[in-house]
Amino acid sequence: MDSGSLVQPQDPTLLAKRVEELSINCDEPPPSFIRRDDDDTPTNESPSLSIPVIDLHLLSSSSSTAREKELEKLKLAFTSCGFLLAIGHDIPSSVLDDIRKVSKAFFAQPVEEKNKYSVKYEGKVTFLQGYGNDLIISDEQVIEWSDRLFLVVKPKEQRDYHLWSDNPTDFRDVLGEYSMKAHLAAEIILKSMSKSLGLEEKFFVNPVEENAYTFARFNYFPPSSRPDLVYGIKPHSDGGAITLVLQDKDVGGLQVLKDGQWINVPIVPDAVLVFVADQVEIMSNGVFKSPVHRVLTNSERKRFSLAMFYGMENGKYLEPAADLISETTPRLYKKIKAEDYGEIYAKQYLLGKRGIDLVRL
Ligand code: OGA
Ligand code: NI
Repeated sequence: MDSGSLVQPQDPTLLAKRVEELSINCDEPPPSFIRRDDDDTPTNESPSLSIPVIDLHLLSSSSSTAREKELEKLKLAFTSCGFLLAIGHDIPSSVLDDIRKVSKAFFAQPVEEKNKYSVKYEGKVTFLQGYGNDLIISDEQVIEWSDRLFLVVKPKEQRDYHLWSDNPTDFRDVLGEYSMKAHLAAEIILKSMSKSLGLEEKFFVNPVEENAYTFARFNYFPPSSRPDLVYGIKPHSDGGAITLVLQDKDVGGLQVLKDGQWINVPIVPDAVLVFVADQVEIMSNGVFKSPVHRVLTNSERKRFSLAMFYGMENGKYLEPAADLISETTPRLYKKIKAEDYGEIYAKQYLLGKRGIDLVRL
C-alpha cells in the first residue's frame, strides 16, 4: 500500500464532521464527500433482483429432503452472489421493531447529545467504538454520507457500556435482546455453510464463539441534496465472516454488485439480509463470494440500518480449507491472522479499496 499520502489521525478533529449537520446546513456536499470513481451516475433506478430467500427453520427440519433442498439453495446463493435473505430466523417482529425504534430514537437526539458517545481514536483504526463517521487517514479519501454508532457486542467483556446510549432508556436492553437472537441465527447460518461444502460443521462457527468479535454498526443516512454525487456507504465488501443486515423498513438504497451490474436490494421488512464477508471468502478458498455492495442516499428521506458483523477471534488464522484446495482449484489466499487482516481491511476500507485484494496469492 502506498503510505506516502497517509495522514496519522491523532485528534478528534480528524473525524469527519457529522453528516447530519451538513445535511441541515449545506446545499452542496463539501468536496471531500464527492465520489471520484468513474462509475456512471449511481441511480436508484437500477434493476431489482429476485434475491434468494432461505428459511432457517427448514435448515433444521426433521425432513431430510426439506433440509437438503434448503441447504442446496443456501450453497447456490453464497457461491453465485454471496448474499441471501433469511426468514424463519426466530427474531420476533416485535424485537425487529424495537431495535429499529431505539436506533431512530438514538439518532433523533441533538448532535451535542450524541457527541457524548463520540468515537475515541486511540492510535488504531480497528475496533473503534462510538458515534461518528469515517476516520480521515488520507487527503484523497472520499467520506461517506452517513453517521453511525459502532459498538462491540462480543466478547462481552469488551463492551463499552458508556457508549451503549441510555437514551432511549431501553437502548441497552433492546440491543442485548436483538444481539442474542441474531447470534442464534448467525450460528445456524455458519453451521449450514460448513455443511453445504462438506466441511466439518464447526469449520466456520468460530465467529459466534465467546471470544470472537461481534460488532454492531447502526447507520444513519441523512438526506443529501446531491444523491448523484455522494455515497451513503461507498462500494465495499464486509471484513468479518458474515454480516446480518437489518434494513430500513421504508427507505431503500442498498445495492449489490452482481456480474458487473449494480442491483437494488428489495426491502423485505421481516427478513434479515445475510452477506458472506471476506474472512469466509478466504476460508472457503473463494467458493463463497464476499460481495461488493454500496448504499445510495436520497434527497428526501432519512434512512436507518443496522449491520451486525461476526468475525473470527483474534489470534486465529484465516486460511483456505485444505479440503477445498485441489489441482483444479488451487489455493487463492495467503494465511493471515484475523487481527492482522482487520488492520489491513480497515485501512483499505477508508481508502475505498478492498482488503482482500492484498491477501490474494
Ligand atoms: C454496512 C452495510 C448496508 C445497509 O454497514 O457495511 O453494508 O443497508 N450496510 O445499510
Ligand atoms: Ni457492508
